[in-house]
Formats: sequence, structure tokens, C-alpha cells
Amino acid sequence: MVDQNKSTAAPSLADGEERFSKSGFIFAAIGSAVGLGNMWKFPYITGKYGGAAFFLMFIVCLLAVGLPVLMAELAIGRGGRGSVSTSFNRLTKQKGWGALGFLMIAAPFLILSFYSVVAGWTMYYAVRSFSGQLFTTTDYSGQFNAFIGSWQPVWWMLLALVLTAAVIIKGVSAGIEKFNKILIPGLVILLLVLVVRALTLDGAGEGVSFFLSPDFSKLTAESALVALGHAFFSLSLGMGTMITYGAYVDKRQSLGAGTMAIGLGDLLYAFLAGLIIFPTSFAFGIEPGQGPGLVFVALPAAFAAMPLGSLFGGLFFILLAVASLTSTVGLLEVPVAFIRERYGWSRGLAVTVITVLLFLVGIPSAVSVGGAVSGLDFGGKTFFDWMDFVCSNIMLPLGGLIVTIFVGWVWKNAAEEAGLTAAWFWIWLFMVRYIAPILVVLVLLYSAGALDFLFKG
Ligand code: TRP
Repeated sequence: MVDQNKSTAAPSLADGEERFSKSGFIFAAIGSAVGLGNMWKFPYITGKYGGAAFFLMFIVCLLAVGLPVLMAELAIGRGGRGSVSTSFNRLTKQKGWGALGFLMIAAPFLILSFYSVVAGWTMYYAVRSFSGQLFTTTDYSGQFNAFIGSWQPVWWMLLALVLTAAVIIKGVSAGIEKFNKILIPGLVILLLVLVVRALTLDGAGEGVSFFLSPDFSKLTAESALVALGHAFFSLSLGMGTMITYGAYVDKRQSLGAGTMAIGLGDLLYAFLAGLIIFPTSFAFGIEPGQGPGLVFVALPAAFAAMPLGSLFGGLFFILLAVASLTSTVGLLEVPVAFIRERYGWSRGLAVTVITVLLFLVGIPSAVSVGGAVSGLDFGGKTFFDWMDFVCSNIMLPLGGLIVTIFVGWVWKNAAEEAGLTAAWFWIWLFMVRYIAPILVVLVLLYSAGALDFLFKG
């Protein structure tokens, strides 16, 4: 039997009133997975690491490691029916797992503090594009630098946080589920409109072939590790989001089918984002490997040059903003669920206090990235870059490692919760036990610079 409610005195988080409907869960999880990772990060790293060859690597990592770990997180959440650290405590008698789970509660808080900065940029850009102000000069990098070098991003970040809080405060079904059920289909429509626009530009073909015809000589160990790290980020793994969402999933829902749907949704979204960004960049002679500025600096030039560019640009940035809000919602729910469960606070109080703290912690990220406030740089990285680096490259793989070890080696009743056929179960367990942890350790070593000798030779 799954040791559900007896090993701890803490009240069950999802004791009944808070549950996703079947489709609501899929929408919410896809909403969390699909975000700035797909639209902002994925294009520039794909551009940098060789286009189609990298995309192929990403697909392999998603299937081989991402999906098994996603399934593991959902199973922990549903098996433990609690916020992250409670779920761990309920599923094993071994000491210490709850404390490790705590890492996965701190991490989404930190990720949210800089993720919402970029979410704020996308909202600012949507407004500027619709109003046409974005196109009044052609110096897009000057504009971008002036914006991020000011205090304005602080207020746009606050807006992103307040919108996120407004959803979370309404709870699981009236908040998270409803928000995603409305916005995810809206996102698909926007995405398709923009794909058609991009593919019908003169010269789009070159971008399509960059994205879809692989040159295997570009495959390197480094690009494989980046692809693996991105598979984690893109599926929202390693930071408690999927564990927390798992706690709200109905016992009768198939986790295997859910995992597949989420994985496919995320992949399809990255694919369509690529079909927007690469054809558009190539059609206007923009270098797709230029880094984080790609969507804010390069694409505006492309929008400026196309008919109705201010409309398409506006729609593009709305798409980004919406995608990022469905992800921030999943991040905020993690600490909120924890505080409510641990301290018995009301949802409203927990959301308010955490949002205020997030705003304060986010300010140094918002003002450091563009140099509005100097003195926040250490070791050649801005505060913002440090947050991103520590969260994405260290805490996230560590979280992933904790999950794989827990499900692969510690938790005895994983099979029961997973509800897979015997063959699928063994494949899953094999990936979670051996393949995923080994690869995750490689990513960690790579991030720490311990593998540099392999790449510089
Ligand atoms: N998956 C989101 C994206 O691609 C980001 C994200 C949301 C995330 N929740 C997360 C990343 C939890 C890691 C962990 O933009």
C-alpha cells in the first residue's frame, strides 16, 4: 500500500476540495512547461548550437530523460498528496528527504524572481509594439539597452507578479485550471497565425532548413549537455512544480498518458516557435545565434520590415507574455502550497506575503541586468545572470537528481502510483534509476566547469 496519510501529522494539501479536472491538469501542466524557455531561450540556444542537429538532440533528451523524470515528479506528488517536502516525507520513512525537498521549494521562488523580470519585458514590448513606439527608431539594441538599463523593468516585473498572484489566489480549479484552459487554446491560435506569417515571408525557406535539416557534424558533447539541461527547464522539472501539480491530480487519471500529452505539447510548442523565429530571422538577414537579445533586438527589426508589423509584433510579444504567465503561475504555487500546509496560512495571506518578498528579491535582478544599478556584479556576472545560472544550472539539475534517486532507489511503491503496464514500468524505472541520474550528474559537472578540459582540447 502507498503510505498515504499516516506517516505524518501534517494535513493533506489536496484533501478533497482542491483538485484538477482531467483536462484541467493537462492544460495547467502544459501551461507550466510552455514558457519563456520555449520562445526565448530555445531559439537562441538552437541558433547557437547548430540548428536542426541541436533540435534533434533536444528531442532525444526530452524523450529519454525528460519524460521519465516528469512522470516521476507527478507520481511523487500524487502519491504523497502534499507540497514538495511533505510528499517526500509521506512516501518514505528515511529521514532527510523532506529537507532535500525544501531545496525544491526555495528554487522556484528564486527562479520566479528573475523569470518575472523577463516576463515583464515581454509585456512592455507588447505594448510598445501595438502602439508603434517600438518602430520609431531602427536602433533596436539601443532601445532595448535603454529600457533594461532603467528602473522601468521593476514596475513591469511587479505587474507580472501581481497578475500571477491574482490567479493563484483563486485556488487550483477556479484559478490555475481556469486560467490555463482559456489561455492555452488562445496561445495555440496566436502561434498558428504567426507560423503562417513567418512561413510566407520571402526567404523563409532558408530558416526552415536551418531549423529542420540536421548537420551532424555540429553535434558536440557540449551541445548535448545544453540540450539536456534545456529539456529539464522546458518541462519545468527539478523545481517542485510538477510535484505540486501532481498533488492535485485525480487518482483515476493516467499519469503515463498525462506525461505523454505534456511532453508532446511542450515539444510541439518549441517546434512551432522555431518555425516562427528561424524563418523570420533568415528572411531579414538576422543572425539567429546572437544570444538572449534575439527576440527583443533582432525580431523587432523583422517586424518593422513587414506589412502590419506592429500588429504581428504585438501579437508575438503577447504570445510570449501569456506563455510566461502560465509558467509563473506554476512556480508561485510551489511555495504557496508549502506555506499553507506547513503553517496553516490562508491562501490569500500566503500569496500576498510571498509576492511581496518576490518583488523585493526580484529588484536586484531587474536593475542589474541592464546596468541601471551598478555594483551588483560579481565575478563577471550580473546579479540576474547569477540567479539564472544558480537556478537553471545547479539547483534544477540537483532537484532532478533528488527526484530520480528518490523514485529509482528509495520509494518502494512507485509502481503502484505509476499505474503502467509491466513493460513500460521497467523501461521507466530503468531510465529513472540509471540513465537520468548519470546524465544529470554530467550536466552538473559541466555547469561547474569540471568538464571544460573535454571541450577546450
Ligand atoms: N518550463 C518553463 C519554460 O519553459 C519554465 C518553468 C516553469 C520552470 N516552471 C519551472 C523551469 C520549474 C524549471 C522548473 O519557460
